[in-house]
Amino acid sequence: MLDNLISNALKFTAAGGKVTVSVEGGDKSVTFCVSDTGEGIPPQNLEKIFDRFWQAELTRRLGTGLGLSVAKAIIEQHKGRIWAESEAGEGTRFYFTLPSITALP
Ligand SMILES: Nc1ncnc2c1ncn2[C@@H]1O[C@H](COP(=O)(O)OP(=O)(O)OP(=O)(O)O)[C@@H](O)[C@H]1O
Ligand SMILES: [Mg+2]
Repeated sequence: MLDNLISNALKFTAAGGKVTVSVEGGDKSVTFCVSDTGEGIPPQNLEKIFDRFWQAELTRRLGTGLGLSVAKAIIEQHKGRIWAESEAGEGTRFYFTLPSITALP
């Protein structure tokens, strides 16, 4: 999961930008965040980025467009969630959660 999100952050952030990884533990779940100061994702594309083979017109051919769909499938099989927050030109924050070990049956 982290490899996937960090690779994207590095790929879509120009030299001189910043990529930050953080994690916050809660009672029921742990939330990971990979944020970057890159080109950002316009709001109308935020749902589509998790579709298989989807790539923004401007970023096409920098991969296959499968990374995030695989990441979403993996995280959902582990009872977690994944989502992104972004403004075009303002960077992107990807979050994913996993259940805390103490919350598992
Ligand atoms: N951190 C990011 N900043 C800006 N755009 C992003 C970011 N992460 C993903 N995207 C957009 O979402 C698209 C889909 O991402 P995804 O990881 O699924 O595919 P990819 O990186 O293009 O190819 P692959 O992961 O298969 O090598 C990207 O092509 C890009 O347009
Ligand atoms: Mg990718």
